[in-house]
Order: sequence, then C-alpha cells, then structure tokens
Amino acid sequence: MPEIRVVGFAPRPDQLEVLRHPARFKAMNCGRRWGKTITESNWLSEGAINDGGENWWLSPIYAQAKAVFRDKISAAKRGGADAIFSDVSISELRIAYKSGGVEHYKSADNPDTLRGAGLRRVVLDEAARMKRDVWEEVVRPAVSDTHGSVLFGSTPKGKNWFYELWTRGQDPLQAEFRSWQFPTSDNPLIRPEDIQHARESLPADVFAQEYLAEFLDNSAGVFRNIAACLGAKPQEPIAGGSYVAGLDLARLTDFTVLTILNAAGQQVFLDRFNLLDWAVQKARIIATIRKYGALLLVDSSGVGDPIFEDLRRAGLAVTGYKFTNESKGQLIEALMLAFEKSEIKILDDPTQRNELDIYEYTMNRSGTVSYNAPEGYHDDCVIALALAWWALRHTASPRLRSL
Ligand SMILES: Nc1ncnc2c1ncn2[C@@H]1O[C@H](COP(=O)(O)OP(=O)(O)OP(=O)(O)O)[C@@H](O)[C@H]1O
Ligand SMILES: [Mg+2]
Repeated sequence: MPEIRVVGFAPRPDQLEVLRHPARFKAMNCGRRWGKTITESNWLSEGAINDGGENWWLSPIYAQAKAVFRDKISAAKRGGADAIFSDVSISELRIAYKSGGVEHYKSADNPDTLRGAGLRRVVLDEAARMKRDVWEEVVRPAVSDTHGSVLFGSTPKGKNWFYELWTRGQDPLQAEFRSWQFPTSDNPLIRPEDIQHARESLPADVFAQEYLAEFLDNSAGVFRNIAACLGAKPQEPIAGGSYVAGLDLARLTDFTVLTILNAAGQQVFLDRFNLLDWAVQKARIIATIRKYGALLLVDSSGVGDPIFEDLRRAGLAVTGYKFTNESKGQLIEALMLAFEKSEIKILDDPTQRNELDIYEYTMNRSGTVSYNAPEGYHDDCVIALALAWWALRHTASPRLRSL
C-alpha cells in the first residue's frame, strides 16, 4: 500500500479510493471506527504539504479538534515526520509546514465565529453532528475563490443535511460531488466478535446507524411510533382498578413529574411541577398515589434517596430504581419497545410529546449507548413514564402484587 507522509499511514484500498478520487466535495458515510478520522487527517496534510495554503480541520466540539491535533503531532514525532513542520502552535491548534502550507484545527459548534476565506482543503469530521450552516454559510463560501475542496466524514444522524449532501454524491450528474457508504466491518482491526456483540446487544436501529452507516428516518429519535400511541384520556381511579406510578424528582433545574398507568398500559394521570418546596411536593404526591392506590417506582439514586425514604415512611408502596448507565438503558429500551409494539397509550400532553420526540442516544467510545435529552432540554416526563412502564411490566397483572 502506498505510504502517505506525516503519520506513516498506509491506507486500505477503500480509503485510498476516497483519497485519490478527483471529486471536489467528497462525503464518506461510515460506521463507527471505520477509519474516517485517520483518512481525513492524512488527506488534509497531503494538501497542506503539496499545495500549501490555509487548510482547516473542523470537529463538532473543541475537545475533539484538540484531540485530533494532538494525535497528529505525536504520531508525526514518533515517525520522525515532525521535521517537515516549521511551526506548531498548541494554543492555536495550528501546524505550519516548511513547504508553506498551514493546518488549523477548529470547533464547529459556533458557526458565527468561524470566519475564513481562501481555504484550500477543509475537513468536516463527524459532519452529521454539525449544523447545516457550517457547510453552507462558512465552508462553501470559504473555498470558492480558491476552488478548494472538502472532505466530509461522518456516521449518519438520521436524514439530516449530511444525508442530503451525501445523496448529491450519488448523483452522476453532479460531478463535483462523490459519496460512499462503508460499514465498520471494513476495518480489519475491529474484531468481528465485537461487531457481533454490538449487533446482539444494541437496539436494531442503533446498530444499523452506528455500524452499518444506514440513514434512518427520524433516527436521532429514540422513540418511534409515538403518534400511534397517543389517545389515552385522563381518568379518575375506578373501583378494583390496578395502577402503577413513575416519579421523577426535580433536581435543581428540572421538574418533578408523576405519571400513572392503568393495568392496560394506558396513561391516566400526568402531573408536572417545580419550584414547590419538598413538603408541598410530598403532600401532592402522597395524595395522588393514595387516591389511585398505585404502586410507585421512583428514581432513588442521588437526590432521590432521602425523598424515597420519606415516601416509604408515609406508608406508600414505593420501590426505588437506582440509575446507572446500564440500568437506565434497560429502562429506556423497555419503553422504546412499548412504543414500537403499540403496547402503551399515552395522554396527548405537548410537553411529554416533545420530550419523547427529541430524546436522543449517544454512542460511547466503548460501544455502549447512553440515553438523554438533548443538551438544555428536559427528560422528566420520559423518565417518569419509563419508570411507570417498568413497574407495570415487572409486576403481575391484573392484580398487581407488591414490587
Ligand atoms: N489504514 C489504516 N492503517 C492503520 N490503522 C488504521 C487504518 N485505518 C484505520 N485504522 C485504525 O482504526 C481505528 C479507527 O480509526 P479512526 O479513529 O480513524 O476511525 P473513525 O471512523 O474516525 O472512528 P470513530 O467513529 O470512533 O470516530 C484507529 O485505531 C486507527 O488507527
Ligand atoms: Mg473519528
């Protein structure tokens, strides 16, 4: 395999095809760990060394840009290639080559602060995690006078702007664009057993997106089929009815949410409040739980713990659920399945609906998944609902026994 200078990288044939392809805008849509970053990093250096000029590396957040920059510096030092650097600025994440070219590593999280013109090569690493404006408003104009080129590499994030861009590369009539789709399994350094383990342990959609690089409809969303599961109506308790409740307690900035399901999986009650002191909250929770005679499952990690004890002392049938990344995953995946199989019916509450719509997963480096609301958003309705659903599934219906 031909060597590319700087970090002694010997590209695989599929990576070489991307590197050598003459299209001006190239988009690699790849599974995790395929080798996007290493390919892009070498493409950038190749341009900076051979064609000079100003070249940019963009990552979704600063910490990622910095990590790629540091990896490149240390790999170059190890291989003795740092002799071709004329100047390295660690504070500016900037490498200047003796041949005159410059590389700048930047974060794309605030497109308004990215100003540039006359760029020769630009990399957008994990492009699907950047805003559309980064490409359309910043990068595209910045390469126009120089007729510069752009390499996009990403794992998909649903059918967002990166998907649109990728489809242009599939159109033979748009000669400036070329795109590829590569699964993780193309990288022989990733053990097939690891991929098989991921296939068995992850939700099918997550595996399809993260390992097969499939563009899924609405894939950023964890919960699907929500619309079909609307239509429950608030109900007062009926005689002989069995009920379960899920409670997510407010942390500093959140809301406390109490959700109640009947034995048929219909949401009959939803309450959401904040800024009440604990004594008032407690009275409100206890009154509702007593009224329905519900079994209550509550987040008992962290702040939940003393409160949980308080509720138990008040004589409620309350059980704690300790949140770890793993136990939270199980809780959320059970609710995902309930929506997919239309086993649950929920109230048409706009806040709850919105929280369910935008709820996200992220893949950790270790290959595990974490579930969360997008940064700055709440997930209290989701957690309360997931707790109530868990309580329902783990108690025998219709006569719910003690948890
Ligand atoms: N041609 C190659 N030669 C040697 N190692 C390679 C090659 N291609 C990829 N690798 C190795 O495979 C691993 C994954 O590469 P890289 O981090 O570039 O992938 P990625 O697709 O960016 O992954 P992620 O999804 O985690 O961002 C790294 O350890 C990298 O060094
Ligand atoms: Mg990468």
